[in-house]
Amino acid sequence: MSQTSMHNLVLLGDSGVGKSCIVLRFVRGQFDPSSKVTVGASFLSQTIALQDSTTVKFEIWDTAGQERYSLAPLYYRGAAIAVVVYDITNPDSFNKAQYWVKVLFPDIVMALVGNKADLHEKREIQVQEGIDYAEKNGMFFIETSAKTADNINQLFEEIAKRLP
Ligand code: GTP
Ligand code: MG
Repeated sequence: MSQTSMHNLVLLGDSGVGKSCIVLRFVRGQFDPSSKVTVGASFLSQTIALQDSTTVKFEIWDTAGQERYSLAPLYYRGAAIAVVVYDITNPDSFNKAQYWVKVLFPDIVMALVGNKADLHEKREIQVQEGIDYAEKNGMFFIETSAKTADNINQLFEEIAKRLP
């Protein structure tokens, strides 16, 4: 008999870092180069199987990064897991990620994600900066690309392994 556990997860981070694209890649295996800004939040769920034959169902709130559309507190207050995303080509988004970590810590923050890892030439935040910040704050860190699908499943698998 396999067991499924359900977990509420919220994605937070600046507008344009690729939160909706990460979710779309994870849930539908697709990438939308003309992804529209999220208004409020959207909800999707996805179940993954772990190696020990248990399954984990993520109920995902993909929040709006644009402040005027943001209802983020409504979502993160009910979430067990927060995934804070930045864009490796955008230092402002890295600052915003640190803001989110401060707001949420130590209650629910779990993962720090540097997205758009495919944009090597435009990189502004070094991998080590992400690693160091995450380590200092007791978070899991990973770089992803919603475009190439690199590390998207791994992100959710690693979170699943670390669930309390
Ligand atoms: P808000 O909804 O406003 O908070 O933005 P968001 O974080 O949901 O951003 P979204 O997923 O809509 O992506 C914004 C833009 O970045 C889109 O044009 C995407 O195509 C692009 N994008 C997202 N992920 C990647 C990625 O991994 N690589 C590249 N090159 N582009 C990406
Ligand atoms: Mg979005």
